[in-house]
Amino acid sequence: MDTYGRNDTIIGREGLVRSFFSGTGKSYDRVVRMFTLGLDDRWKDEIVRLVPDSRRILDLGCGTGILTERLAMTHPRAEIVGVDITPDYLAEYEERLRRKPWIHARPMLGNAETVSLEGEFDAVVSSYLIKYVDADLLLNNTTPHLRRGGAFIAHDFTLPTDPIYLNSWRAYTWAINRIGPMLFPEFRTVFDDGLTGLLRRTRWPDDVMRALRDHGYEEVRYRRLSFQTAGLVSAVRA
Ligand SMILES: C[S@@+](CC[C@H](N)C(=O)[O-])C[C@H]1O[C@@H](n2cnc3c(N)ncnc32)[C@H](O)[C@@H]1O
Repeated sequence: MDTYGRNDTIIGREGLVRSFFSGTGKSYDRVVRMFTLGLDDRWKDEIVRLVPDSRRILDLGCGTGILTERLAMTHPRAEIVGVDITPDYLAEYEERLRRKPWIHARPMLGNAETVSLEGEFDAVVSSYLIKYVDADLLLNNTTPHLRRGGAFIAHDFTLPTDPIYLNSWRAYTWAINRIGPMLFPEFRTVFDDGLTGLLRRTRWPDDVMRALRDHGYEEVRYRRLSFQTAGLVSAVRA
């Protein structure tokens, strides 16, 4: 049993996500910018760089639309479909589309593991989603909708393995787990060792790379980013 529910069932995973994200959509953009010290911006650049020329892009766990907006800037002709399980994040996503009508995107409420998708995509991308999902279920659901030669790209936080980076990570996360709830009480569960605890337990890069190979993907690659505090797994559908 993990801190906020069982992570090995769909109900457990959804419960964990609800405990983290319900009621936090309005302040999310400020929180991610502040507590990643602006690195989120750099990581989004790395994701976008891997996206091939696209007519349709699937942004899983799209949240308030930060990555969707970046994709729309670099792929202005593409239609982006954003899927998220948390209604108040999708409300912020819709608000972003109202403010920035040049973003050619469509929000969909649903679980990325099971949501009913239509048509074919040139790229399936996600930022900070992959640690919350079962990689096999996610690939079962999305691979039939990714064109052959299309890109699968998953980015998320990781626990550093280098002892020096790990000690710095521990000190930094110790501090933000104390400061965070004072500034953003609605994110209390995330800072109450929720996110850091999950990062200590998850083996998402290994799980995703194994699942990608099992699903027949090629060019499966893993890059560590920013002192090993984040990682990017990419692959091409054979
Ligand atoms: C930390 S936010 C990231 C949002 C956005 N991708 C970004 O980079 O800013 C994680 C998002 O994943 C969503 N999420 C988590 N599990 C999900 C699932 N199984 N299906 C769809 N969305 C999910 C949450 O609701 C939340 O909006």
